[in-house]
Amino acid sequence: MPAGPMDAADWDARYAAAELIWTAEPNRWVVEALAARPAGSALDLGAGEGRNALWLAARGWEVTAVDFSAEALRKGRALQAARAPLTLPRIAWVHDDVLAYVPAPSSFSAVVLAYLHLPDDARRTVVRRAAAALVPDGVLLVVGHDRTNPGEGVGGPSDPSVLFTADDVGADLAGLPGLEIRRAQRVRRPVDGHPRDALDALVEVVRTTEGNIGRLV
Ligand SMILES: C[S@@+](CC[C@H](N)C(=O)[O-])C[C@H]1O[C@@H](n2cnc3c(N)ncnc32)[C@H](O)[C@@H]1O
Repeated sequence: MPAGPMDAADWDARYAAAELIWTAEPNRWVVEALAARPAGSALDLGAGEGRNALWLAARGWEVTAVDFSAEALRKGRALQAARAPLTLPRIAWVHDDVLAYVPAPSSFSAVVLAYLHLPDDARRTVVRRAAAALVPDGVLLVVGHDRTNPGEGVGGPSDPSVLFTADDVGADLAGLPGLEIRRAQRVRRPVDGHPRDALDALVEVVRTTEGNIGRLV
């Protein structure tokens, strides 16, 4: 694995190396945050092989799944065709860099950033655009390996420049009106076969007001 942030070619090489890098099951925090919500439109940024997008689509959501790794998207499409062909019309697989992809303001009822590890400036840009993309009552879920994970947890990147805490994400959102941070904490995630839990940074934000917050981003 490269020492710095991984680019699209690095990710393509990683996805090409094995059949499925991540599990086909959705992330537990995504399930916890969205299972009780009615289906709507969802944006999955850094969707990878699509485990979360597939889970949402199976529940009736219309999903836009963005990733800059063509290999990841190829595997996501294949997984969908094999396991859930009826959901094919419900996922738009978008090959793009999350920094180039600017979601339309006020257009998604859920936005998910799951284990998308970016340098601080890039994360701030993407998180603020993600918040601006929420419709009223929409939810933004940001989850990643916590900055303390390399020393105290298990798995994930060791490069501290791409790791974050829940407070970092809260600071990313500073000054944006009409948002309520419902949850911002470090959480433990048991990992099969490991004596230690992984430590994740988890932030759940709900847009509480009408109006366009996109102009501030
Ligand atoms: C650790 S994986 C997580 C995948 C998925 N969210 C999940 O939870 O299974 C991170 C993903 O982010 C993608 N990624 C990283 N930086 C990106 C960028 N700048 N633009 C688009 N995708 C990016 C990678 O290609 C990879 O698929």
